[in-house]
Amino acid sequence: MTNKQLIQKLNTRGVLTKDEFVCLLSSYNRTDAEYAQKLAQKIAKAYFGNKIFIRGLIEFTNICRQNCYYCGLRAENSKASRYRLTKDDILECCREGYPLGFRTFVLQGGEDPHFDDELVCDIVKSIKAEFPDCAVTLSIGEKSRNTYQSFFDAGADRYLLRHETANSEHYSKLHPKTLSLENRKECLFNLKKIGFQTGCGFMVGSPHQTVETLAEDLLFIHELQPQMVGIGPFLPHKDTPFGREPAGSFELTLFLLSLVRIMQKNVLLPSTTALGTIHPQGREMGILAGANVVMPNLSPVSVRKKYMLYDGKISSDSESAQGLEELKERFKKIGYEISVSRGDFRKG
Ligand code: 5AD
Ligand code: SF4
Repeated sequence: MTNKQLIQKLNTRGVLTKDEFVCLLSSYNRTDAEYAQKLAQKIAKAYFGNKIFIRGLIEFTNICRQNCYYCGLRAENSKASRYRLTKDDILECCREGYPLGFRTFVLQGGEDPHFDDELVCDIVKSIKAEFPDCAVTLSIGEKSRNTYQSFFDAGADRYLLRHETANSEHYSKLHPKTLSLENRKECLFNLKKIGFQTGCGFMVGSPHQTVETLAEDLLFIHELQPQMVGIGPFLPHKDTPFGREPAGSFELTLFLLSLVRIMQKNVLLPSTTALGTIHPQGREMGILAGANVVMPNLSPVSVRKKYMLYDGKISSDSESAQGLEELKERFKKIGYEISVSRGDFRKG
């Protein structure tokens, strides 16, 4: 089969065999990528029109007990300047975001033991009490099923937990022994069972990644059927074990975004900060490749530069009315508008 035929098969069947994915990923050229991009964009337009959903990202703690080899927030990075926001700080971020049109707040943080189950539930309940028409997304790592259930019962709607790689050998090259792919997958299936709109995802070009592991990532996405998928290029952070590794490919990231849109037509697919960091028009190009979500930063300006997952992470002022206007302007130029709505996953 030609690559064009493989992309068409993906479009009608929603999945390919591992060999077919490997073949496509190892031999696609610019024409194939353009074909996938046009198809993905057409699908996104059919499902979401020209609307982009916005999520207000609140990076509420950069303290983390884990030691992922790729991440600037890893516990062993003694150079990171650590912070945590209080519940009031977090509510203040929401109060700034709401009048700007944000109807989803994403609480993202490292695995910080200070934020125990009780405190997280209290924060979620307080946000939902003050902003009943808003969705709350959590992104705070691996927890037990009971803990996830208590977050859900407190009112959290969505949960992001990237699987990072669906190949266990590759997984063990990205993480210390305290983390396993098996447990990561179990967490993701638990989140789905509980009823969260669940997001998995991976970095493109992480060290030791191959077309085979990428094929496994796509197969895992097909197996999990997540409501959201986060994909961005790997970018090195100088104070990590992968500080001298090359960054992931921008073009390959766009191609994978398109493939995920073609596979899972109604998936919520962000054009990520990492994509905006690796290329000045990255976020627009992600949208044109099939993404339909952006996550502007609502964290207080004073802590923005401290949430450094990788070097050069953009920390633009998109929280301010002016910053958001700028973003709207940029999307308008490519024919898109920001939607003021929760932007929930819709079946079918
Ligand atoms: N480059 C790109 N993405 C990264 N993340 C962590 N470190 C990096 C990096 N160096 C991503 C991971 C994680 C998410 C919070 O950020 O995929 O799941
Ligand atoms: Fe911690 Fe997440 Fe970074 Fe891993 S990726 S070190 S869990 S913040």
